[in-house]
Amino acid sequence: MNPARGRAQPTSHLSLKRTLLRSALVLSAALACVSAVKREDFKTCSQSGFCARNRAYADLAKETPNWMSPFQLSSSSLKLQRGVLTGDLINTQEDTQASSKLGLTFELHLLENDAVRVRINERDPVHPRYDGVQDTVLVKPYEFAKDSTYQRVDTDNDGIFTIQYGAQNQNTVKVSSSPFKIEFFVNGVSTVVLNDEGLLRLERLRDKSKEGGDDTKLVDQAPEGGEIKIEKSELERKMEENLWEETFKGSTDSKPRGPESFGLDITFSGIQHVYGVPEHASSLSLKPTKGAGAAYSDPYRLYNLDVFEYELDNPMALYGSIPFMLGHSKNSTAAVFWMNAAETWVDVEKTLSDEQDSGILSWIKAKKVALKPSTKTHWISEAGVLDLFVFLGPTHRDIFHQYTSLVGTTALPQAFSIAYHQCRWNYNSQQDVTEVDAGFDQHDIPYDVLWLDIEHTDGKRYFTWDHAKFPNPVDMQQSLDAKGRKMVTIIDPHIKKDDNYYVSKQGAELDIYIKNKDGESSFEGWCWPGNSQWIDFYNPKARDYWASQFAYDKYQGSTKSLFTWNDMNEPSVFSGPEITIPKDVLHYGNVEHRNVHNLYGTMFHSATAQGLTQRNETNQRPFVLSRAFFAGTQRYGAIWTGDNMATWEHLEVASPMLLTIGLSGIPFSGADVGGFFGNPDAELLTRWYQAGIYYPFFRAHAHLDSKRREPWLFGEPYTSQIRDAIRTRYSYLPFWYTLFHETSVDGTPIIRPMFIEFPEDEAVFALDNQYMVGNALLVKPVSKPGVTESEVYFAGNEKWFDIKSYKWEQGPGVKKVASPADKIPVYQRAGTIIPKRERPRRSSKAMENDPFTLVVALSSQGEASGRIYLDDGESYGYQQGDFILREFRVSNGKLSSHNLKTFNNKPSDFVQRIGSLRIERLVIVGEEKPLTKVTVGDKSVEFSSQKIVDGSYVYIVKEPGVAIGEDFEILLR
Ligand code: NOJ
Repeated sequence: MNPARGRAQPTSHLSLKRTLLRSALVLSAALACVSAVKREDFKTCSQSGFCARNRAYADLAKETPNWMSPFQLSSSSLKLQRGVLTGDLINTQEDTQASSKLGLTFELHLLENDAVRVRINERDPVHPRYDGVQDTVLVKPYEFAKDSTYQRVDTDNDGIFTIQYGAQNQNTVKVSSSPFKIEFFVNGVSTVVLNDEGLLRLERLRDKSKEGGDDTKLVDQAPEGGEIKIEKSELERKMEENLWEETFKGSTDSKPRGPESFGLDITFSGIQHVYGVPEHASSLSLKPTKGAGAAYSDPYRLYNLDVFEYELDNPMALYGSIPFMLGHSKNSTAAVFWMNAAETWVDVEKTLSDEQDSGILSWIKAKKVALKPSTKTHWISEAGVLDLFVFLGPTHRDIFHQYTSLVGTTALPQAFSIAYHQCRWNYNSQQDVTEVDAGFDQHDIPYDVLWLDIEHTDGKRYFTWDHAKFPNPVDMQQSLDAKGRKMVTIIDPHIKKDDNYYVSKQGAELDIYIKNKDGESSFEGWCWPGNSQWIDFYNPKARDYWASQFAYDKYQGSTKSLFTWNDMNEPSVFSGPEITIPKDVLHYGNVEHRNVHNLYGTMFHSATAQGLTQRNETNQRPFVLSRAFFAGTQRYGAIWTGDNMATWEHLEVASPMLLTIGLSGIPFSGADVGGFFGNPDAELLTRWYQAGIYYPFFRAHAHLDSKRREPWLFGEPYTSQIRDAIRTRYSYLPFWYTLFHETSVDGTPIIRPMFIEFPEDEAVFALDNQYMVGNALLVKPVSKPGVTESEVYFAGNEKWFDIKSYKWEQGPGVKKVASPADKIPVYQRAGTIIPKRERPRRSSKAMENDPFTLVVALSSQGEASGRIYLDDGESYGYQQGDFILREFRVSNGKLSSHNLKTFNNKPSDFVQRIGSLRIERLVIVGEEKPLTKVTVGDKSVEFSSQKIVDGSYVYIVKEPGVAIGEDFEILLR
């Protein structure tokens, strides 16, 4: 973020910037509250040449009666071998004489995990199109389907090549030659169609020196071949604009390779809700951007940008991009991953478009109408090759697994990092740190991590300290560590250009900065430290250098309890076009930045994570927070939603944003609790904590100009309410950690939109103001002031138990429930068991040896199940089997625990010790059913019971005498 940027042309912007920096970066908090995004700093689709051209093509298709895609696949060229179908694709609108030369390559890969990949590239381009995204995004090994798992099933020669595939042979893909189209079916039902609308378009690379113009001849749709030149319509003219150079707000993109964009439409047939393509401050179910009922005039934009005071309910690009989209209907679920890291835009159009109200009622209304809705999407990328994956599930869990088995799952984080983080820009000195740390202890509030923002450095030279303010960083970290607490410092990718700064000098010596378009000089631009250079994380030498800088002897003043925050990595360049780096700068291997923009932040993130891992001899897991992200970021660490504002609306939008990012593969994410800009009042701050404890990444953060707001500063009753919220998070840490384990194995999101748990209940498909944590907790944040009651939708046919009072609500239906100042509605789903630790401590580390509580919420059948995963919370020992994974189950009046771990190693000392920790309490809630005896083995155990409401009881069984890591059976009679 930069309070002033973008308000003027670069030079005046810079001088304004300098003034701001000189005055200690102070901009009035009032300004922060009233000003808003500078929309004019960022392109709309019509200002982005390739987006406008591809959209014009879509409009032309729509306006042309009987439009047919000009692309044809030569049937005779199709070959299916070892899971790969290949063929020649031609554009019949191009010069037919030259068409064999101008052909495109077509590949369809059947993968071992039932995913299908489709790739289209130029056959003999003047320069190769950039195809390197796969090298950084896909995790190896990439395996093709075995011959026995698919078969060609068409017999006649109708130009359609049909393959059946999938574990149960449930999927079919039909590749039509003329016009070119690919249709995917699940159990015979059409689900995903590529080029259904005929919007496939690819701008062939041409030689700029010979061109400076366009040789593609526009011809009409002459059915018998033959070219008939026509007068160019306005749409056709639009398709020839901004091909070779483009200027936006005074910055010119020199486009040395000219136009190279491509687009394709993807229809989700029979599916009205699509989700994903983060990051946007918008709803969970994506609103249409085209057609009747369009909510936005622009497509969703994917281009990592540092957007100052971002606007809500908007498809504008933000800090991260994931070109993943999931479609869901009552009968089917499917997803696509468009593997491209260049600027991308996605239009969404619904065939029934007026059902966009995310409220429950419209959905209930909609249920009564017999509709067969579909969603048509149009994907447009600036450069690279067309490379996409289609996942057909059939369940959500299958889709998350299929997708993350390609791009990677979330790395199991250090246990401390899922506890509470205290941040602000800035904690000003070592004394300040000591006082804030002590404040938590005085007020009996747990926290795990204290963060230092850019002001802790010597003049924004990362890896250094301002020694006047922080005279002894090692002592500072050690005194936090003594209480089980950690510290995080910020390290950004811009390097102050300064010969007296060792990183700057070494970067120059090693020649590892991003280069200008001349390929010689290093790119320079403006960021926090003033004139800066950007490390080229595409250069292996740069990555190694960067990682080595985290060694304790290099990063002076760092200790093993210091971790890292990577900010400004879109990258943010205050003096650059759209506050980022120009597209024509060059990376290692002369790769133009335009090809990899959305991945830059991830490359930085991964090099940092690598550095934190390799600084220790005994491998400790890293913790790195990043602002920019792309598909695969989850392998390196957490992300957050950037510079939000201290408003109720920003609190509200955090839920759909985090749900969207989570289902797109990055579950470890959070929003700044309290809101970054501005000053929350006590009520907003408290409500934000009550919501924030259910974010996978839970951190409070505040802008430099905001008033101090540590949890105790508003006094009572707020301090107690915030304390209670944070303690609640700590009590659920075993449950959260188990969910992190689960997502690290199969990619299932941690916080989940309701439709993932209730895929057949249409009332929840657009619901995004309440959500599930795992499969067990239902959370409804309060995001309006003065609220004491909330409407909650209880899905399913089972009961939901209030986690504080254990009062139940019966699903399905909307109920008004109490949400007084000291709580938001949170319910445990009947049929689940949640492991907890309920002794308040000052940090998660201090809870390590604490006993457990199991909260058992019985279903109407008297059943329940849940899991626990435990390990040392910091090392990679779990990869050698140093962990506990157990399932608890209640059935037939018996609570049992059994081992789920298949790893066959001798239990380490750690596993033995942790496994012997006892379960100190069972809380069993359920319908009335007198519990008269609890028996462990042949021993009776004491318990108390309490009637909650008619028809429901809670039983508290104290000290049942069993350990968390052992097999047991407890009879409940
Ligand atoms: C921008 C980040 O989004 C914000 O969280 C941070 O405080 C500032 N940069 C200063 O580093």
